[in-house]
Amino acid sequence: MTKDEEDVLNGRCGEVAARAMKLLVTLGDIEEASRLVPINKSQVAGVSYKTAGDATLELVESLASSGAYAKTKAMQNPAGMDLERWSDMCVPEAFAAKQKRICQAYETIGIRSTCTCTPYLCGNKPDYGEIIGFSESSAVAYSNSVLGARSNRQGGLDALAAALVGKVPLTGYLLDENRLGDVEVKVECELPSEADYGALGYFVGKNVSMDEVPVYPKMNVTKDKLKLMGAASAASGAVALYHVKDITPEATRLHELFKNGKPSETLIFDERCRRGVYDELSSSKKCDLVAIGCPHCSINEIREIAASLSGKKVNAKTRLWVFTSPTVYEEAERSGYVKAIRGRGGDVFRHTCMVVAPLEEMGVTSVATNSAKAAFYVPRMTKNSCTVFLGSLRDCVSLATS
Ligand code: F3S
Repeated sequence: MTKDEEDVLNGRCGEVAARAMKLLVTLGDIEEASRLVPINKSQVAGVSYKTAGDATLELVESLASSGAYAKTKAMQNPAGMDLERWSDMCVPEAFAAKQKRICQAYETIGIRSTCTCTPYLCGNKPDYGEIIGFSESSAVAYSNSVLGARSNRQGGLDALAAALVGKVPLTGYLLDENRLGDVEVKVECELPSEADYGALGYFVGKNVSMDEVPVYPKMNVTKDKLKLMGAASAASGAVALYHVKDITPEATRLHELFKNGKPSETLIFDERCRRGVYDELSSSKKCDLVAIGCPHCSINEIREIAASLSGKKVNAKTRLWVFTSPTVYEEAERSGYVKAIRGRGGDVFRHTCMVVAPLEEMGVTSVATNSAKAAFYVPRMTKNSCTVFLGSLRDCVSLATS
């Protein structure tokens, strides 16, 4: 530790900073980090009242009354509701009151209630090679893999501590040697829809070990599809970094992609595997909510949703909701996409998603989605009271409009 870090640990900047520093130093010791390194960007999970509960509410309110303040540009992960239009989502008042307190307390300590899992689309985009402290798993996977930034998959508490201190231990995916590939993935089937990239990511996440880095073949893929793919592999497994040959930035710059010069294993994803993911994750074709936006939609995705609803009308029994960040929402509103989606009977919400909103209390019993990550989590987060259909955006729109 530097002299300055020791002083913080010994209380020079107050008790909260000392406790935050102690947590980071302890984690660094466990992982044998050589030192702490500075960060300028953070994303803090543990925001939705549904997952965070009263314990987090008390912790963050006590931090807010202590005068603690983030040293980084810090953003909150999604909350359990749209912070302004929660009643349009049928979120109960008691839940909303506690959710607002959590978000307000984070704001008071300098962690903005942007409430998104796509901070990189929302004014907190890291540069190539930049060390950051993100904690939501899809944001970590996207930042590491698609942007070439460097983040470990931080827990809610250590991401909070890192935001307050402005440092993280130099360990894990921050180090060159841990960023090379382990497992080679071969794709031996067509991937006709965006949901198929999520299915591929889901399969790979399930079949690689913790800390292994998969390397995908060159694919005709957009950043939005990589967003779905990375989110799914971080959900079914713990993939925090992957490479796509000739596409993702480190894959195009590294001379050698694999540790020891060759893959430790080869995984084959074929048509049987692709269908297997849909069979595993879909439990019913019923849907009272079509939910798109896990991870939060980009502007291109919202444009596609608006276009896919053109000439159609969402039927009276179904809700079609799109989830995005406040920044992308504003752009979608300016571009007329929000109006177009609402005009067809759908809606667009910010700050939240189908996984961290209290679906049971909102009267939702069946969800259709194009996100393998959401399909994986919705039943788990609703104690299996909610069924799921996983399909392409086209399939989901046709369920909502038929
Ligand atoms: Fe984001 Fe919610 Fe999915 S936080 S990645 S939209 S589960």
